[in-house]
Amino acid sequence: MRVLHIVGARPNFMKAASIMREMFRFPRDFHQLLVHTGQHYAPQMSQVFFHELDLPQPDVNLNVGSGTHAWQTAQVMMRFEPVLNDYQPDWVVVYGDVNSTLACSLVSTKLGYQVAHVEAGLRSFDRSMPEEINRIITDQLSDILFTPSGDADKNLKREGIDDSKIHLVGNVMIDTLVHLLPKSQSNWYQLANNFPREYILVTIHRPANVDDAATLVEIMSALETICDQIPVVFPVHPRTRERLNEFNLQPKNSRLQMLEPLGYLDFLSLQEHASLVLTDSGGIQEETTYLGVPCLTARPNTERPITITMGTNHLVESESSALVQAMQAKLSGSRTKKKSPPLWDGHTAGRIVKVFRQA
Ligand code: UD1
Repeated sequence: MRVLHIVGARPNFMKAASIMREMFRFPRDFHQLLVHTGQHYAPQMSQVFFHELDLPQPDVNLNVGSGTHAWQTAQVMMRFEPVLNDYQPDWVVVYGDVNSTLACSLVSTKLGYQVAHVEAGLRSFDRSMPEEINRIITDQLSDILFTPSGDADKNLKREGIDDSKIHLVGNVMIDTLVHLLPKSQSNWYQLANNFPREYILVTIHRPANVDDAATLVEIMSALETICDQIPVVFPVHPRTRERLNEFNLQPKNSRLQMLEPLGYLDFLSLQEHASLVLTDSGGIQEETTYLGVPCLTARPNTERPITITMGTNHLVESESSALVQAMQAKLSGSRTKKKSPPLWDGHTAGRIVKVFRQA
């Protein structure tokens, strides 16, 4: 079976890594091709993950880079079409909800290739998020939908997706975490010297939080306030870095430590040892749930409600006093006992590959 995997942006790499690794165990069953769209191209947003996650170098790089949504999506589509025709896969595997996911699903379906969507069915019910549009359309186009949790199955059925296409397999990102946690833990002794003993870990990059100056001012003001109480470690996404420069928002307090984006292993260590994580990422809501680390998500909604009902996650408004209050409440509250959602067990890739072998 010929399988073509699509990766493009940072959160795709950890998902593809575990499935590719599992397929490599069956060399007679799977011939794999890895296509990187180049949506993320900076070394710290891309190359570092290939190395740390043991992902093979991409067979093809479409070198698309940044642009408006229309431009980026169209470029991926145009550059992907000849690659697809050339390789003629039995399956195109797309991951998550980024623009590359949507673009390649659309091209593949129109040319009659079968698409499998990993991390299907998640819904924030907020169509102002670009990712929500990408999820809805990718799911409608896909022939197999691998879901991480029961809520995703319900969303898909409500949208009319046939039951036979949906496979509840668990969370493939947690496979990578389970696989690499021991390595990140053994690296921690070295890394710990560079960080305070207790800290809040922050990642913020959603357009809704960083593209609007007033909202970004609220977030930065909350971080400046809370860091008097406990230091803040903030690896800064390129989009956020650009906006901070544009709006001239440079932190004044040295207890607010702004870093370049980190690799997977360092970031995983920092999550595990954080007193609290403040984020607007999707995957980090899941990783903190698995690790049992308190998490605040600066968004009005989440497509991952299980991280709230079963995990450590709470939503918080991106407003300075709300953020400070929520951080203080989480810091003084007792830590909930670690509880993982069903099938977030490190064996999701195995279940996915089993479905392919029977397809
Ligand atoms: C994308 C995904 C988002 C995901 C995030 C993870 C979409 C719609 N969004 O958002 O779901 O959570 O990736 O990081 O696909 N840039 C660089 N170097 C890079 C990549 C980007 O400097 O390697 C800068 C560019 O100025 C670019 C901006 O970051 O304009 C945003 O990049 P883009 O890929 O468009 O979206 P993200 O915000 O990264």
